[in-house]
Amino acid sequence: MLEVKELHQYYGGSHILRGLSFEARIGEITCLLGRNGVGKTTLLKCLMGLIPAKEGTVTWEGKAITGYKPHQRVQSGIAYVPQGREIFGRLTVEENLLMGLSRFSAGEAKAVPEFIYELFPVLREMKHRRGGDLSGGQQQQLAIGRALASRPRLLILDEPTEGIQPSVIKEIGVVIQKLAAKGDMAILLVEQFYDFAAELADQYLVMSRGEIIQRGRGENMEAEGVQRLVAI
Ligand SMILES: Nc1ncnc2c1ncn2[C@@H]1O[C@H](COP(=O)(O)OP(=O)(O)OP(=O)(O)O)[C@@H](O)[C@H]1O
Ligand SMILES: [Mg+2]
Repeated sequence: MLEVKELHQYYGGSHILRGLSFEARIGEITCLLGRNGVGKTTLLKCLMGLIPAKEGTVTWEGKAITGYKPHQRVQSGIAYVPQGREIFGRLTVEENLLMGLSRFSAGEAKAVPEFIYELFPVLREMKHRRGGDLSGGQQQQLAIGRALASRPRLLILDEPTEGIQPSVIKEIGVVIQKLAAKGDMAILLVEQFYDFAAELADQYLVMSRGEIIQRGRGENMEAEGVQRLVAI
């Protein structure tokens, strides 16, 4: 389980995360919703250690990881699919996926694990193409594949549907559901696409101005008026 307690973060003088607390459980999809600029990506960067938290604690599987560097978080089983994907455009699909294996020893990191190509057959078809030649949706699948290569127990995704065509959004939704159904992974999904989040969420969190302003179970999202809080 991931436990975040009273997290604070600043950019210069602006207070971006204001005492944020929540939990994300193994076997569950936790969807974090919120409008543009409320601090969702900042929160994820804090969880990955890319911008260390100023105050508060992050505990993962019982261990305090608040001071961990990003690579130590990857070592402890956390993987991150950043907003905008950030794949390596000049490397091939296969090379991009191999980058995801960097937490393992050289011997273990030689080949792309088969399960990734099974989840995303298009990546197998395109494995010798350059990442930069893929469509946006294929790049998103590649970014998720690369994150999964590290065999995470916590998968963090930042707006995976942003700018992606509906057919690929559907495929990504199916993969996220499959991963959750295995029951050995916590998934933290940041989304602004309400319907996608509502379909997947076991737990939801609504963020506004650096705080969680509402939370509940996924099946109650409609009854609890979540769409109204996040509609753009
Ligand atoms: N590097 C930075 N330096 C200064 N301010 C920043 C920086 N990055 C983000 N901000 C500001 O911090 C606030 C939170 O940004 P953040 O990217 O976390 O929001 P978000 O909820 O992810 O938004 P979006 O939905 O557009 O991705 C915004 O007001 C943003 O302008
Ligand atoms: Mg963002």
